[in-house]
Amino acid sequence: MFNDLTTPATLMATRRSGKPRDMAAPGPDDAQLARILAAATRVPDHGKLAPWRFLVVPPAARAVLGERMAGCLRAERPDAHEAELAAARDFALQAPTLVVVLFSPRESAKIPLWEQELSAGAACMALLVAAHAEGFVGGWLTTWAAYSDRVRDLFGHAPERIAGFMFLGSPGRELSERPRPDPEQVIGVWHP
Ligand SMILES: Cc1cc2nc3c(=O)[nH]c(=O)nc-3n(C[C@H](O)[C@H](O)[C@H](O)COP(=O)(O)O)c2cc1C
Repeated sequence: MFNDLTTPATLMATRRSGKPRDMAAPGPDDAQLARILAAATRVPDHGKLAPWRFLVVPPAARAVLGERMAGCLRAERPDAHEAELAAARDFALQAPTLVVVLFSPRESAKIPLWEQELSAGAACMALLVAAHAEGFVGGWLTTWAAYSDRVRDLFGHAPERIAGFMFLGSPGRELSERPRPDPEQVIGVWHP
């Protein structure tokens, strides 16, 4: 499915996201998922605070999550249309595997919140790269749900927040490449 992944550069250059709604079985099995998640914990983390955690939503819990997310949307937006509520339900049913990454900021006199946020982003990215290395495709979504305190409360509690809904699986259709920034526009050399 993928190109030669024997070098780190190739691994990164061949990774791209898939659309979670297009993902198909198989997803990672338990051993593969454990390796992916262990890899995702190996990220730069100033102060060794581990300001993130990972919650796997097992297949049997997906429909319940969908119902709860629809309930959150209804509570927040009583005027939400039935189609929007259905989309909230369906969101949780996408792809074979769903991992919710929570940003869990730690009280620290020394480590700024910004650096803890950067570490949480790194954890999400590491998860995507590790999934690719295991032969799967990933997709990082936030949507309204990552900004909903009600949805956050399904998984954790303030001041935690949802860094990403990470969907994993196999591509159900050929992955399309998205426009990428021109390296020349974003890479430079600093001259004093
Ligand atoms: C923090 C974050 C949140 C995102 N949330 C969404 C989302 O809610 N919906 C969406 O369609 N794409 C979202 N994306 C973008 C997708 O992940 C997108 O497919 C990705 O940027 C593709 O780039 P890649 O192929 O290099 O992974 C998000 C990206 C990031 C970094």
